[in-house]
Amino acid sequence: MSPSGTVRAEPDRITSDLAALAGVTEDAAPGWTRRLFSEPYRSARPQVRSIMAAAGLETHIDPAGNVIGRLPGRDPSLAPLMTGSHTDTVYGGGKFDGLVGVLGGVEVARLLTENGIRLQRDLLVVDFLGEEANPFGVSCLGSRAISGKLTAEQLDRTDGTGGERLGEAMASFGVDPASALDCAWAPGSVHAYVELHVEQGPLLERSGNRIGVVTAIAGIERLLARFAGRSDHAGTMPMNDRRDALVAASEAVLTIEREGCGAPIHGVSTTGRIESSPGAFNLVPDQATIWAEVRSIDERWLSGSRRRIADRIAEQAQARGVQTALEWLNDQPPVRTTPDVQDVISSSARDLGYSWEAVPSGAGHDAAHMVHLGPMGMIFIPSAGGRSHVPEEFTSESDIAAGVEVLAQSLISLDRSA
Ligand code: HGY
Ligand code: MN
Ligand code: MN
Repeated sequence: MSPSGTVRAEPDRITSDLAALAGVTEDAAPGWTRRLFSEPYRSARPQVRSIMAAAGLETHIDPAGNVIGRLPGRDPSLAPLMTGSHTDTVYGGGKFDGLVGVLGGVEVARLLTENGIRLQRDLLVVDFLGEEANPFGVSCLGSRAISGKLTAEQLDRTDGTGGERLGEAMASFGVDPASALDCAWAPGSVHAYVELHVEQGPLLERSGNRIGVVTAIAGIERLLARFAGRSDHAGTMPMNDRRDALVAASEAVLTIEREGCGAPIHGVSTTGRIESSPGAFNLVPDQATIWAEVRSIDERWLSGSRRRIADRIAEQAQARGVQTALEWLNDQPPVRTTPDVQDVISSSARDLGYSWEAVPSGAGHDAAHMVHLGPMGMIFIPSAGGRSHVPEEFTSESDIAAGVEVLAQSLISLDRSA
């Protein structure tokens, strides 16, 4: 422990834990791919448990499929402290997104024990089930479940290919869907939740600050838009007589991009995928589908963007004689972090000698659901080049150690708070 009573992390321990887990990925996929319900994801979870157990945590898997490690406090009757993140990734993802928060929480448990610091409250370190966006259109499965926000309707969703429903896929993975629907914790049952995460954007690297104190987590609206026109001979049908579904979908892609570019305070929009059929050189496409999302920490703008996008897409498609069907999937509102927890995090960074700044999160996180169970905060550490969800994702060992130390200090302070 340093003279000021703060704990100093062992970066190489985190690095070796990261390396052990990061190696459990889908062989045929690029980067560090460990998608929800994949075999590598299934086999990584017992490894997470053994890393937790080796750090002295009592582990179990809860009814929502979350892996939970518990460091007993002096008074287990008190509401626990919680930290954590996720170990699932996107396709072609990076090595640090999510993992840093789970393994950083484990390192905090080790540091507390090694420094003889026995919190009064239990500390729970959680690997939440399925945080990333998935083909079922329902992210943050584990944190949504324990915060009471997972619904039967969501478990009934398919992945769009006519395959099994989300609830069936969960059951095949060993998570009973009925139990996942019935495992909500009571509001206020967590004394405080603090998540360590890589920023996944460029702000900290550009400013040179070591720590980001997150102010809000962006809300996410996800859109599945289908376009139905008429297929024709591409060589003979005059341009002004066509009902080209793919051109209508392409105009929608630009409409969605323009919405994000026009956000007055904070906002982004992306079309991540477009498909059309029949898909031949010489046939005018009669079917097209786009998968898009809009995000913002500005609730008013975000809710208005659904209507603006829907109206513009309908108008443009109608002008082309193309029918549209819009389905809004993931209505996750923006969430503010708890100001008192922000203050604890910024004071901890200052006491440890780390420069910090307040930053918004354009990325979604389990923390956005944990706010329903108690005061919530997030700690960001820099992402090289602001890149994430790509194999090039990188955060330095010293930045990870700094984040872990701020996390430890914040939890120690929160443990003392009433
Ligand atoms: O998509 C996100 O914002 C997060 O990385 N799951
Ligand atoms: Mn993440
Ligand atoms: Mn992610």
